Amino acid sequence: MDAIRVLVVNEDEAVRKAIRSAFAGLSTRGYAMVTFEAPTLARGCEVARAARPALMLVELKAAETSVQSLLEASRGAGRAANVVATYLPPDAPAAKSDAFLKAVRAGVSDFLRLPPVAEEAEAIVRKLFGEPGAPGSARRSAAREGKIVAVFSHKGGVGKTTLAVNLAAALSRKEGAGRVALVDSALQLGNAATFLDLEPEYTLFDAVRSLSRLDEALLGEYLIPHSSGLSFLDAPRRAPEAGTITDDQVSQVLILLRSMFPYVVVDTFPMIDSINLATMDLASTILIVTEAVSPIVKGTRRCLEVIDQLDYARDKVRLVLNRYAPFAGNCRPETVAEALERDIDYVVPYDRRVVIAANDGVPYVTSSRRSAFAAALRAIVEDLTRDPESDGGRRSLLKRLFFGSRPNGRALAAARE
Ligand SMILES: Nc1ncnc2c1ncn2[C@@H]1O[C@H](COP(=O)(O)OP(=O)(O)O)[C@@H](O)[C@H]1O
Ligand SMILES: [Mg+2]
Repeated sequence: MDAIRVLVVNEDEAVRKAIRSAFAGLSTRGYAMVTFEAPTLARGCEVARAARPALMLVELKAAETSVQSLLEASRGAGRAANVVATYLPPDAPAAKSDAFLKAVRAGVSDFLRLPPVAEEAEAIVRKLFGEPGAPGSARRSAAREGKIVAVFSHKGGVGKTTLAVNLAAALSRKEGAGRVALVDSALQLGNAATFLDLEPEYTLFDAVRSLSRLDEALLGEYLIPHSSGLSFLDAPRRAPEAGTITDDQVSQVLILLRSMFPYVVVDTFPMIDSINLATMDLASTILIVTEAVSPIVKGTRRCLEVIDQLDYARDKVRLVLNRYAPFAGNCRPETVAEALERDIDYVVPYDRRVVIAANDGVPYVTSSRRSAFAAALRAIVEDLTRDPESDGGRRSLLKRLFFGSRPNGRALAAARE
């Protein structure tokens, strides 16, 4: 059995050592243990990134804010870590049940009373990883976590915002109101609000500015609900504001949003910069938008080459051919697929009423559900909502094992035809 890697994050050195030794001591009970420690959350994330622990212990009072960043930092090849919150008896459940509830909602899977007792540490390890020597040391899945869908292209004008807005509206229609967030992370020139006829009072800049105290309640205030059921977080209003925002800050906002909504759709600015890379890292699906026009296809090919270097699971990156019209002389989807040396996952037709809907500030999928455009968007929604495990490593690993390097079901079906 692989050793169980444990990271203890606690500001008190003596407490840290005590917890660490309680877990290290399980070696005498048949478990292979490796322990690490960190005094602060920031250091904890660094250690988690390097050490990929399977179990992390955080202080209950910090659990709410630290769980997601630690999980994110620790995430290795599809493996989810477990987080246990440690508390001193004065914080006992009866007195502070609110803190416990919040910790569970943040993704904590268990609690350990301090000072740590070997039996209790062992009970936690047994519950999470099974008996000593159990094959595969089963890990429980991580925090309740929504899916982030990034809509990206190297180029402006290909329909990223159109697709992001319509996808979020179509997802909302299927999932119900309050389950989808749309973020305009085109920081400098975001225009998604106009597609929704919204004039939000707050923006991503407000969320970033208040990061140190940002929680679900406050972030909720910065979101504006839309009649389609989605909740919208606008891009900063002024370019100088946008310029101060870092990739880390955007990540933190997205991670919090992901804990609030099952789906978070992100519209992006056409640039491979650190903010978009951080967004793509966090995303469980990246929709790359292209058009059947030779210069755009060439650019998309270069863009995909860069993204391929990031070593994402093959089915995380999906290709959308937008504004497609089968005019004589136009590139056909097969030609585009050939030029890109990969399958096109979705073809979204050209429809001039999409432009009219954008001018009216109504997502086209809302005003015209029977259009071919709406049907194409629904196909994306179906794939995104199909399998709750699709962002876990297991399914994609199985797919890769069985289907080799082309894990795309749709493409396989096409190939068989
Ligand atoms: N499938 C489509 N059919 C017709 N027009 C579209 C389609 N998708 C996008 N458009 C139009 O193309 C223009 C650019 O779209 P937009 O979403 O703003 O692109 P981006 O966000 O990539 O810059 C807009 O006028 C939009 O209405
Ligand atoms: Mg746009």
